[in-house]
Formats: sequence, structure tokens, C-alpha cells
Amino acid sequence: MMSRTSIFTTMQTQSAHYPMFGRQPAVLFCRKICGMTQNLHEAAFAAMMLDDPEAKCAATLQLRSDWSAGKLDVESCADDPCAVMVPGRPQRPQLVAPNQLTSRRVGTPDGHAAMLHAIAHIEFNAINLALDCVHRFRSMPRSFHDDWVRVAAEEAYHFGLMQVRLQALGRCYGDFPAHNGLWEMACRTADDVLSRMALVPRVLEARGLDATPPIADKLRSIGDRESVAVLDIILRDEVGHVAIGDRWFRACCDDRGLDAEACYLELIARFNAPWPQPPLHREARLAAGFSSAELDRLAAGRS
Ligand SMILES: [Fe+2]
Ligand SMILES: [Fe+2]
Repeated sequence: MMSRTSIFTTMQTQSAHYPMFGRQPAVLFCRKICGMTQNLHEAAFAAMMLDDPEAKCAATLQLRSDWSAGKLDVESCADDPCAVMVPGRPQRPQLVAPNQLTSRRVGTPDGHAAMLHAIAHIEFNAINLALDCVHRFRSMPRSFHDDWVRVAAEEAYHFGLMQVRLQALGRCYGDFPAHNGLWEMACRTADDVLSRMALVPRVLEARGLDATPPIADKLRSIGDRESVAVLDIILRDEVGHVAIGDRWFRACCDDRGLDAEACYLELIARFNAPWPQPPLHREARLAAGFSSAELDRLAAGRS
């Protein structure tokens, strides 16, 4: 039987050799894996590689249900060394560089829908990011996987809520271009759980805590109370996601004898990660585990 590593190598080789077929070879191999195992890490991988958003959400919710019911095994072993360069995602939205995204006023129909679409895109990527933590970081304790299975299911819930809002405007996920910044950071931190916890939940998701109240204000200003109610749910859950990232980041720093807050700043500099956009949502960030001293430092700007 082909080993998992050789399957992965084959997937990557095929995707590289047959770009005209997109990721179809990878998905076909992935489905073979699905039928072979009741292993948590592989089940997360299978869900991550599904292209169709509805199928991915259903598989993610099933993963949480199966994990909670004790139907999935875990193997404590070395982390998976291969970065998934292209996770499962639909052909649309078209991915473009951030500076190619059109800025639209929220008071226009297109601007309103584009704002909701941008949030839906973040939630879709967040499903893959959480599943990747479960798939990849196999040396972490069971409670780590409990946390990230829960996050993946909550992200699927958030994506579903945003799809409903888009549909209420006569739109759906894929109707606007989007950028790939979240997944690019997943690739860059694929080999180190400490870096992943620092730069994805504790940098990128934490930026979402800051961004949500101003977005809610804009939606409120045009009378979209239903979307504001969805953002309230998302913000509540996202504090929990950043808190999970914070807890595991600090635990990894403790294990390695590192000062967590100094290490965080050093990683932001080394990865040239985005600095928080003011104003910071101090209350949410404090609830998620940031210290007051850290927030003062972040509010002072990049030096
Ligand atoms: Fe979310
Ligand atoms: Fe999240």
C-alpha cells in the first residue's frame, strides 16, 4: 500500500505537473484516504481537501460529532512535515493580490454584498486553517485537537451564517474576487506549531476582533441588522478562537523556555506579519489573553 507521505508527494507532483487540471488529482487521492481510515488527523485532512463549501461544512460538523462520540483514533507521532499548498476550495472566488481588490462603498448594493463576501471568505479559510491544525500538528496533546476540532466546527457555522446573508442579497460565495493571505500564512507556518499559533490566531484572527465593530457600524448605518446580529455571534466565538491560540502559543513558549511576549514580537518581525490596525478592541483582546502591556506595545505601532 502506498504510504501517506508518498501519497502526498504524488499529489503535489501531480498538481505541479498538471496545472490545467487544478487540484483534481489531489482530491481524488484524498478521497482514497477517506475510505481507508477512521483516524482524526486523516479525517480532518479529508474535510480540508473538499472543494465544495457545503460538503466541507457537513464533513467538518461530522468530524466534531465523530470526535465527541469517540469514533476517531489519534496517533501521537511527529507532526506532518508537508505543507498543503492548495487546500480544498471552490473554483470561485477568483484569488487575486490584495491590491487588486476593488474598494466599494457599503452604501451601494455591490459594496454591501462585497463586504459580506469578504467576511464569508475569511470564514471559509478559517475552516481550512482549523482543520489543518488538527491534521498537521500530530505531536500535540489530545486537548489541542479538542480545541481545533471545535474551532473548525464554529467556523463552518460562521460560514453558513454568512452564506445565508449573501443569499438574502441575491449573492453567494464566489461572486467577488478575494485574496489568499490567510492560507499563505498557513503555508509559511506549516512546520512549527508555535509560529502557527502566534501568526494565525494571535495575529490574523485577532485583527478580526479589532475589525468587527467598525464593520458592524457600517452595516448598521445601512440598516442591515440581520448581518450585525451574525457579526455579534462571530465576534463572541472569535474571542474564544484567539484565546485558544493564545493558550497554546504560551504553552509552546513555556515548553521551549521562551518569553512569550518577546517571542511574539520577534515572530511578527521575522514573518513581516501585518501589525494591528488601530483602534484595537482592547476588551476582546484582553478576554482572549493579551496582556495590557502587550496591547500598549501594539497600539504604539511598529517601530
Ligand atoms: Fe469565524
Ligand atoms: Fe476563528
